[in-house]
Amino acid sequence: MTPSSTEAAALEGEIGSLEETKKLHTAQDPGEFKDKAGSHVPKIRVKEGKLEVEVAHEMKDEHFIEYIWAKNSEDGSMLGACKLSPSDQPILHVDVPDGVKSVVAFEMCNQHGLWKSDPTPVC
Ligand SMILES: [Fe+2]
Repeated sequence: MTPSSTEAAALEGEIGSLEETKKLHTAQDPGEFKDKAGSHVPKIRVKEGKLEVEVAHEMKDEHFIEYIWAKNSEDGSMLGACKLSPSDQPILHVDVPDGVKSVVAFEMCNQHGLWKSDPTPVC
């Protein structure tokens, strides 16, 4: 199902406020969650112009990935996003527009906060 433009705009608003208010964690700087990087840093795969972002994390009612999104790492423009329920798989698929050379992925865990991948080249 393709989300309507209203849903996409609402999702972008929710994600914008997460980026503004939540502390950002990375593999290099996991902060208070030193042993959590492996299950929280989004993994990016690129195949034939398609991007797959996966988070190797459990999806349980009390502990799950709430959002995944991907951006052009050069200009910060949003490439795709999803809002998840515990019954979903923590995977996002995105078509990569022509001209995008590098992408970065984010996710929000309901217990361990906001995480960001390294920029990944799109070849
Ligand atoms: Fe978590």
